[in-house]
Amino acid sequence: NINGNSNDSIKLAVSANNTDTPTSDEEESLFTPSLISAEIQSVLPEGYSARPLRRSDYHLRYLDVLRVLTTVGDITEAMWNERYDYLVKRNDEYYLIVICDGSGRIVGTGSLIVERKFIHTLGLVGHIEDIAVSQDQQGKKLGLRIIQTLDYVAAKVGCYKSILDCSEVNEGFYIKCGFKRAGLEMAHYY
Ligand code: ACO
Repeated sequence: NINGNSNDSIKLAVSANNTDTPTSDEEESLFTPSLISAEIQSVLPEGYSARPLRRSDYHLRYLDVLRVLTTVGDITEAMWNERYDYLVKRNDEYYLIVICDGSGRIVGTGSLIVERKFIHTLGLVGHIEDIAVSQDQQGKKLGLRIIQTLDYVAAKVGCYKSILDCSEVNEGFYIKCGFKRAGLEMAHYY
């Protein structure tokens, strides 16, 4: 561990779900599904799955899941596609995942953004953002599984730590996920 903060991110010894031939799901995905931990998949509730974001998730009401977190605004499909195209061109930087229930409904999401630094010998830092679980699905460990899924991606792609900002009401959740308080968030709004 390059900065000595070995507790900054949870570490999971898990194997990737590697596939040799790309499936149509893989072609449509924001990033390779082989970065989704098979071990975390196996401990989701029966029938639930974790996967990378897809372009078609606009129609699965992905944005409604984010509305439990904050305001989203009115995003048309054209606006969605433009942003999705931006993200897919940078899919070694943006890792957005979703959790689906047994019927394929999106019930949770989270994002990992990988920052490439000069310091720490070109170190990579994961930024965990926009964690949300649908109101009626909270308390089933889905939030924990989202963080573990993102943490697995971060470790796999070479991040030496992951960091996030949260409100005090969510501190207990992130502590349960293996994070610890480190510094103070400051903001300048424009
Ligand atoms: N305070 C303390 N402990 C908590 C909290 C909390 N606010 N929320 C959950 N926990 C505990 C649970 O009790 C559970 O503990 P246990 O293992 O002892 O049973 C553990 O944390 C895991 O909880 P999950 O069931 O995985 O939590 P959930 O699926 O409900 O997801 C989340 C938590 C993501 C905070 C959800 O409530 C949510 O979507 N809230 C609204 C949006 C939000 O605030 N998102 C986080 C923004 S910060 C950011 O995005 C970086």
